[in-house]
Amino acid sequence: MKLYDVYPLQSIEISKGLGSYVFDVNDTKYLDFYGGHAVISIGHTHPHYVSRLKNQLDKIGFYSNSIEMPLQQQVASMLGEVSGLYDYQLFLCNSGAEANENALKLASFHTSRKRVIAFEGAFHGRTSLAVSVTDNPKIIAPINENSNVQFLPFNDEVALEQAFDMFGEEIAAVIVEGIQGVGGIQVANPSFLSKIRQLTTQYQSVFIADEVQCGYGRTGEFYSIQHQNVQADIYTMAKGMGNGFPIGAIAVSPLFKPWHGQLGTTFGGNHLACVAALSVLEVIQGENLLDNATKIGTYLIDELKQIQGVEEVRGIGLMIGIELPVQMSEVRKQLLFEDHIFTGTANPNVIRLLPPLNITKMDADFFLEAFKKRLQQY
Ligand SMILES: Cc1ncc(COP(=O)(O)O)c(C=O)c1O
Repeated sequence: MKLYDVYPLQSIEISKGLGSYVFDVNDTKYLDFYGGHAVISIGHTHPHYVSRLKNQLDKIGFYSNSIEMPLQQQVASMLGEVSGLYDYQLFLCNSGAEANENALKLASFHTSRKRVIAFEGAFHGRTSLAVSVTDNPKIIAPINENSNVQFLPFNDEVALEQAFDMFGEEIAAVIVEGIQGVGGIQVANPSFLSKIRQLTTQYQSVFIADEVQCGYGRTGEFYSIQHQNVQADIYTMAKGMGNGFPIGAIAVSPLFKPWHGQLGTTFGGNHLACVAALSVLEVIQGENLLDNATKIGTYLIDELKQIQGVEEVRGIGLMIGIELPVQMSEVRKQLLFEDHIFTGTANPNVIRLLPPLNITKMDADFFLEAFKKRLQQY
């Protein structure tokens, strides 16, 4: 059997990782400023993470959600503590798309409504509901087309008000990324988020913050919308949560009342996944990684803004988008193959930096030096 070929691949085979670095099969060292799509939050093979997972594997790796698993409550308690949302309720699942799927479903259960507002440039995943609120017709199969979803321009408060004026009583949820990732690192305006909060409260709709990419400490606050002091009804999360172990979740406001069978999953919240999530939270807390994301992120953004040739730098903390002119479209490839630095991309010509939250100033300087040199060649 061959692989179903859906991924455009770089011709690099990575065989090991250590902190902010990965090594290919020839032992070439790469700086990882992408973290495999923002997944590596505490660095590759962090010793605390590795030992916690190995220990758990020796005891038991998996049992289904039909027995008591105190580890799940430990994750919930610690997540409440680190995020400051003590009274929210946690539902554990396996990925970002699944988290959004459950959030939207819960919003519909809660309001008995169907309509959803999403935004241009949004990416929320590839499963049925998640893809229907994603602004990319190419990945929406006919079966996923959903007339309940309306896309509005991002950061457009007038359009949002008009939509609520017209059919506010029918809106189950507004789903928004605090910082659009795939959309090119576009930061939601504070007043836009406040407007979503105000209108969803007024019309008793649900405010879903998709924090799958921008959350989990990446911006220096646990959830990105906390920078604006706005509180959502449901937060969705995944990527950084397990540092590579597949896990996702939703944090649900105390206003929502669960009933048995309302949501469910076979794998979600298993022993190994919980231990991965716990060890990540322990490292985030123990090593003050939110502060580090702010410190190194601010440094990187300030330095990048001074580099000649850069059109715009967007983002907060360690979620950074560098807009380059079209003639520099090869820079990302050059960084990878010549300077051995992994970065991400977004259309049309944005370099996305999503490194582990514990990168050092030395890592940042290494990147900045290489990046400056690249740009000087144009
Ligand atoms: C903001 C956002 N939401 C949801 C998802 C989907 O997550 P997953 O790929 O784990 O299903 C992604 C993935 O890139 C994302 O960036």
